Amino acid sequence: MKRQLSNFRELAALTRETAQLLRVLNTRGVQVLPGDPVVEEAPVPKKKPAEVRLEAPPTDLGREGLLEHYRKQALACQRCGLSNGRRNVVFGEGSSRARVMFVGEGPGAQEDEQGRPFVGRAGQLLSRMLQAAGIDRKEVYITNIVKCRPPNNRDPSVEENAACRPYLNYQIELIAPHVIVCLGRVAATSLMPGSAALGSARGTVRKLGETDLLAMYHPAYLLRTPSRKNLAWQDMQVLVHRLVARGILPRLPEPWWTQT
Ligand code: URA
Repeated sequence: MKRQLSNFRELAALTRETAQLLRVLNTRGVQVLPGDPVVEEAPVPKKKPAEVRLEAPPTDLGREGLLEHYRKQALACQRCGLSNGRRNVVFGEGSSRARVMFVGEGPGAQEDEQGRPFVGRAGQLLSRMLQAAGIDRKEVYITNIVKCRPPNNRDPSVEENAACRPYLNYQIELIAPHVIVCLGRVAATSLMPGSAALGSARGTVRKLGETDLLAMYHPAYLLRTPSRKNLAWQDMQVLVHRLVARGILPRLPEPWWTQT
């Protein structure tokens, strides 16, 4: 019972983080559209899982300078126990002007080794999925909920998620993507308040301010469960339709049966 209560408090803290991000977007003129999911501020937990502020830069460094400023802080970060076992911090990579951001769960062994997100087998599958959908991997931004590898690729704990969240919040705020794609349950439940499982989160587009939020199966899950690849392809189509609707991709690809 005690553990359940503390889980609830920690989850409430994460919901507050999302509400905080919404407020930041609002101060930048981004309005929550009618019909958007309401993100309510949860009651303050008695014990904070982690201090949520990062060190502010001395002057306005611009988008790229600020991203670099927070990347450097992440490289030295010791806000949670994951820092003890890491080889490299995997902050994220891609265009700072990306209009699409993919958010995974946390680095795996290859990513920890190389300091880059989604470079192992799951990452290679992600690259193939993007290519098949006509999306250039160099044009998107890819990051994770936690920037250091959880031991044995376990799910990040609620405390680790909360400790790392400010980095993701700054990445979202600075890059201001039009579309955020949550890869897998951990990212979906963390960024889409109210979604308890990936099955219920995928297939629909939610709003975070003016940003479209989508969820898809994690490529590592697809490697283990190839029978779900057809559903993942449907999710890719939802993404491609959003990108065309928002003028990010010029047009839908020709159906395969019309291509010679
Ligand atoms: N799985 C993730 O969630 N992220 C990565 O960067 C690699 C594998």
